[in-house]
Amino acid sequence: MRAVQISTLDGPGAVTVVDVDEPEASAEQVLIDVHAAGVTFPDLLQTRGLYQIKPPLPFVPGTEVAGVVRTAPADSGFAAGDRVVAFPGLGGFAETVAAHPVATFPLPDRLSFEQGAGIPMNVLTAHFALVHRGGLRAGDTVLVHGAAGGVGSASVQLAHALGAKVIAVVSTEQKAEFARRAGADEAVLVGGSDDVPGFKDMVKQLTGGRGVDLVVDPVGGDRFTDSLRCLAPEGKLLVIGFTAGEIPTVKVNRLLLGNISVVGVAWGEYWMRRPAYLQEQWADLLPPLADGKLDPLIGEVHPLGQASAALDNMDTRRGIGKIVLQVR
Ligand SMILES: NC(=O)c1ccc[n+]([C@@H]2O[C@H](COP(=O)([O-])OP(=O)(O)OC[C@H]3O[C@@H](n4cnc5c(N)ncnc54)[C@H](OP(=O)(O)O)[C@@H]3O)[C@@H](O)[C@H]2O)c1
Repeated sequence: MRAVQISTLDGPGAVTVVDVDEPEASAEQVLIDVHAAGVTFPDLLQTRGLYQIKPPLPFVPGTEVAGVVRTAPADSGFAAGDRVVAFPGLGGFAETVAAHPVATFPLPDRLSFEQGAGIPMNVLTAHFALVHRGGLRAGDTVLVHGAAGGVGSASVQLAHALGAKVIAVVSTEQKAEFARRAGADEAVLVGGSDDVPGFKDMVKQLTGGRGVDLVVDPVGGDRFTDSLRCLAPEGKLLVIGFTAGEIPTVKVNRLLLGNISVVGVAWGEYWMRRPAYLQEQWADLLPPLADGKLDPLIGEVHPLGQASAALDNMDTRRGIGKIVLQVR
């Protein structure tokens, strides 16, 4: 089968497409013919050996897929021919992958394989962040950083679908447009220069000085303190990632003075200790996915053979929205 392979840790430019043997599904696994695979930030980090999961070289990356079941254990709830989404964790950038039934989910008919492939890492993380860790309620106001990125655009869509008012923070007008398409009520630039006001001032203006109930932060870096300043009393900042590179530090007197919280969000860490949570999440998301209230927005689709370019778009911050590989 055709598969993308990481054989040296030299970044996205060094990944290649090769012919390798198909994986064999164990007695417990579902074997899936992959139609589309989502590109995630961990895939990018793995091209440089910078992610916590470091498989021996060479290996096939790819955490999430959508496709059609070829074989499945009798008691798995899946059968040959089913359209599914799966989170194999590795090996998804390939024509066939094996996944565990706890991390395999039915794909609603109305969704394309590309839309399905974009769900596990980003939408399930956004759901864990907003609902479980953030306690989002309809009517809340949510600020989302990196709002045209994978996790960010999923957070915008889900918060909007759950009845929140969403303020998106992005670096370009083009990304602002994408965030509005995802459901943001307002989209503001990170700003902070002489010409463009910083997002903190815009957020204060847009909320009548009150601030926001939740900040979704997959970016980190030097905007962190201003994010804390955007929080309304008892607001929470959800720490999801550090695409800006720098891991921020917080002066805890700010938390005390504002009655605000900084909340860690580690979706993988949570469900690996409690695997049944994945199916609980899917059950919660199926109704809005099936009726279109939540309609995953795909930014870019690249053929499998262009995996290197797709990863490079993410690396250089050029990518907009969820990036997906079309496999067949
Ligand atoms: N905690 C968890 O459970 C969990 C789960 C999934 C992913 N993550 C993490 O979440 C983060 C975001 O993942 P993603 O898939 O959303 O990535 P992505 O699609 O590349 O989006 C990240 C966004 O970060 C912003 N950004 C700011 N500075 C950047 C820089 N120097 N380089 C690149 N992007 C920069 C960009 O938005 P602007 O240009 O608009 O600023 C970009 O759209 C990653 O760190 C990932 O590992 C965490």
